[in-house]
Amino acid sequence: MAKKRLVLGNWKMYLERAESAKEFVRAFKRKTAKLAGVDVGIAPPTPFIAMVCDALGSAPVRVGAQAISAEAGGYTGGVSATMARSAGADFCLIGHSERRAAGDSDEAVHSQLVAAASAGLTPVLCVGELEQLPDGAHVSFVAAQLRSALGAAQSLSAKLVVAYEPVWAIGKTSNSAMKPAEVEEMVIFIRKTLADILGRTQALRVPILYGGSVEPENAQALIAEGGINGFLVGHASADITSFFEIVNACKK
Ligand code: PGA
Repeated sequence: MAKKRLVLGNWKMYLERAESAKEFVRAFKRKTAKLAGVDVGIAPPTPFIAMVCDALGSAPVRVGAQAISAEAGGYTGGVSATMARSAGADFCLIGHSERRAAGDSDEAVHSQLVAAASAGLTPVLCVGELEQLPDGAHVSFVAAQLRSALGAAQSLSAKLVVAYEPVWAIGKTSNSAMKPAEVEEMVIFIRKTLADILGRTQALRVPILYGGSVEPENAQALIAEGGINGFLVGHASADITSFFEIVNACKK
């Protein structure tokens, strides 16, 4: 498992103009000394990937794609893993709940994972239940997502990152996020499921992130008590002060 904690920012569509993205990166670069000890990345919208990489220069920040498609050739509007990689991305979110809601099936998620890994991108596989069910059935839902995404392809685990994002907790405020003790339970379960799929040694190497209304207010407790290796941050990653506070909470 990576020694440093990993904090990835998913900008979604929050920063709409290239100029806002550039401004963010400029301010970000001035603070990079504060990043020491944490592995940090941001996933801008696809049209900004190359510009963000360029503006970051040698700053120790990873850049990722928010989504790729596994199709090739005649597929209008698609972005392949190779395109994202050649624009400068080094990781890619796969199976984010907002992409699944827009139509990405479990099969598509598996194909995207294979495409990302073969293009040399670190796949950040997002899983999470739509709602918590009293009989605990949501736990099997997450296991099924992991099994169908990873399939029998053990080779996918080389650089794999898993982001556990309960859908019911996404896009709200820290009060609505999952509580650290519940996150810890799910992480233990996810790690066990990964061990069943990939074998124990590989499973122990996979960083598990939590995402879903991570804000400066709850980052400290979640990282200290949630048993996670970092965060996938949505709305708070588009605000430089909040994002840095979250990164700071992840320093060991
Ligand atoms: P949020 O988004 O932090 O805004 O809840 C997380 C995500 O969807 O990755």
